[in-house]
Amino acid sequence: MRSRDLELLQRGKVRDIYRCGEGLLLMVASDRISAFDVILDEAIPGKGRVLTAMSAHWMEMLQEVVPNHLVFVDPDDFPPEVRQPGDIDWGSGRAMVVRQADMLPVECIVRGYLAGSAWKEYVRSGTVHKMPVPSGLELGSRLPEPMFTPSTKATSGHDENISYDEAAGIIGQSVAAEVRRICLEAYAIAAAAASSKGFIVADTKFELGFVNGQLVLADEALTPDSSRFWKADDWRSGYELPSYDKQPVRDWLEATGWDKTPPPPHLPVDIVAETSKRYVTAYESITGRDLDDWYGGR
Ligand SMILES: Nc1ncnc2c1ncn2[C@@H]1O[C@H](COP(=O)(O)OP(=O)(O)OP(=O)(O)O)[C@@H](O)[C@H]1O
Ligand SMILES: [Mg+2]
Repeated sequence: MRSRDLELLQRGKVRDIYRCGEGLLLMVASDRISAFDVILDEAIPGKGRVLTAMSAHWMEMLQEVVPNHLVFVDPDDFPPEVRQPGDIDWGSGRAMVVRQADMLPVECIVRGYLAGSAWKEYVRSGTVHKMPVPSGLELGSRLPEPMFTPSTKATSGHDENISYDEAAGIIGQSVAAEVRRICLEAYAIAAAAASSKGFIVADTKFELGFVNGQLVLADEALTPDSSRFWKADDWRSGYELPSYDKQPVRDWLEATGWDKTPPPPHLPVDIVAETSKRYVTAYESITGRDLDDWYGGR
């Protein structure tokens, strides 16, 4: 058997997911990058390894708050059917073997600061995910308390921001309450850890699911793709802050006047290089680890 014979279950915007044994999935994070929900043509070198290493770092740290879907992160431990020559890049630190979860149909966002779509809504209606917040906040303001701000998980198109009550209507009151508690605790721990390295986690998105009746943290966690990181030294409210995520790509795309529908414009090489560097820097400075020490490094 060759590893390319594994059944491809799903190709997401970033991850390729293969079935690999009873209840297990091989999740391979590609170097693909999406912006405004459109996959760009250029790959960002090293991005898949960063996403994988960073998710593993946080999931391990958050184990006391929530179990996670990780089974194997070391390629040497992967099942024999994965460890075959073929087209699947399982050995370079971009892949992990996880438990297949029955995913909740909502995205579990936590916001500590007012930015992105929440800021746009606040300007429009004075609310955040249709929930009340104090008046007089600015772009980038710290919220009085971190908020659990779910969204729908659109199968196509853009996710829609919803209130806690709307999420509870979708996943049920008791699951919603448990998910909110988990996400707020996880955010608090991650925000404190990031703060000790000089970073703010302005907001982040978790995805949870059920494995054997138990809620687990799945997908990715606290990566530049799922979070908005700011350097604490740069922070001041009232301004759009430079962030360690795909901001260079977004800014460049916005400047082209692209209408955000496919096909996207081609990214210039310097934007690709800058973004690649940002991903690696985000991982290394926020986790305090060296990417070369992750599987598939040096
Ligand atoms: N343990 C798991 N079991 C089942 N599905 C999972 C698990 N972990 C993650 N997923 C799902 O796998 C997919 C990951 O793919 P990817 O991140 O590329 O996709 P996307 O969700 O399409 O894009 P985006 O992250 O931008 O919303 C998501 O649909 C996610 O919900
Ligand atoms: Mg995703």
